[in-house]
Amino acid sequence: MSETAPSSGGAAGEGSGTAGLAVGVVRERWARERRVAVVPDDVARLAKAGMTVLVEEGAGSAAWMSDDAYRAAGAAVVTRDELVAQAQVVLTVRKPSPDVLAGLRPGQAVVGLLQPLTDLDLVRELAGRSVTALSLDGLPRTLSRAQTMDALTSQANIAGYKAALVAADSFGRFFPLLITASGTSKPADVLVLGAGVAGLQAMGTARRLGALVTGYDVRPETKTEVESVGARFLVLETALSGSGSGGYARELTAEEQAAQQQQLDSHIARRDVVITTAQVPGRRPPLLVTSAALESMRPGTVVVDVAASALGGNVEGSVDGETIVTPGGVTIVGAGNLPAEVPAAASAAYSRNVSALLAHVVRDGRLVIDLDDEIQAGVVVTHGGAIVHPAVAALAGDQTPGARP
Ligand code: NAI
Repeated sequence: MSETAPSSGGAAGEGSGTAGLAVGVVRERWARERRVAVVPDDVARLAKAGMTVLVEEGAGSAAWMSDDAYRAAGAAVVTRDELVAQAQVVLTVRKPSPDVLAGLRPGQAVVGLLQPLTDLDLVRELAGRSVTALSLDGLPRTLSRAQTMDALTSQANIAGYKAALVAADSFGRFFPLLITASGTSKPADVLVLGAGVAGLQAMGTARRLGALVTGYDVRPETKTEVESVGARFLVLETALSGSGSGGYARELTAEEQAAQQQQLDSHIARRDVVITTAQVPGRRPPLLVTSAALESMRPGTVVVDVAASALGGNVEGSVDGETIVTPGGVTIVGAGNLPAEVPAAASAAYSRNVSALLAHVVRDGRLVIDLDDEIQAGVVVTHGGAIVHPAVAALAGDQTPGARP
């Protein structure tokens, strides 16, 4: 167990009374990011748990949370330089931007969705700076006491909801069955690939909009969950079981993936809307919708790729953040950042997750790192100049002294 020192006291939040551990909420720099790591409603919660809260000017403005709202809640609104200099723990949604990273010094900590398994350069930089990094992506999600901290779930839930709305908005017809004097429209036929948190929420939302919904996942055990949200479960002719460990899917072999793509093609061809949400932790998302499948879809149909990312997505040719219309008239929405498009709700949920994690790791105004704690073993990536998360260290081939085996 080890501790990081509390702030020297220069960071006391206005109106927060006694100085505690100074936590700093940065304004996200990435152009399409509208979320903020802590919302005004949680400032008092953090103060009660022994923290003083610094907020960078304008940090919440893209989510309609003003600097005045933070001040009224008891936070100190500061410049970025002041924040990086004074905060003992820097709170982010995404990875810290290069200017923040450059200012971090030994003993400081950063908390965010850092995606360490796919960004080893960042991990090495944080370890090299002796910064303690806590990444919410590593949380042991099946642990019931960790559920309030589960940012992957809170954000995936929002992504799934928004995916159904984006699909409905991009589709040139109705989702529900509509019978009017001007004619009858059939309900939209929607296929959702991947039945994790985002996929199930997309299915439920599309159902509530009146669509006919079918769901598919490589983990056969998801069938009952798909049916519980009112969708039909798609069974492929050659049943594949891609169940991996911890409730996640494993990466399919090249042969399995080819067989899956081929079988999915014919199911995709007749759908009005396809929403893809399939992920394998730490890997490139599996390709599920090939260009052959896209060519077989009718003009006016829509594909929303929730897994779109810099690494690629589930849909051939999809580009994260862009909407493309194929020569055959299929609209492909690269939608890898949907939580940021529901910024108030996504920030509120994320803020609650971060606050719960901080309440767990802050004791008597100090950040207490204990790698024997199951939650911390999952989320702490770097500490004391080493990569301490076993899976990340193994990927990094880390030889840093102190790295856990
Ligand atoms: P995820 O975002 O890692 O993946 C989404 C879905 O894609 C998964 O259901 C996965 O099986 C599926 N997938 C991967 N490769 C595929 C392929 N080739 N074809 C079709 N589908 C494919 O998953 P998420 O949403 O993070 O959930 C992972 C698991 O964690 C689920 O079992 C979920 O129920 C579980 N979970 C449990 C919680 C708890 O017990 N409190 C909380 C949150 C999640």
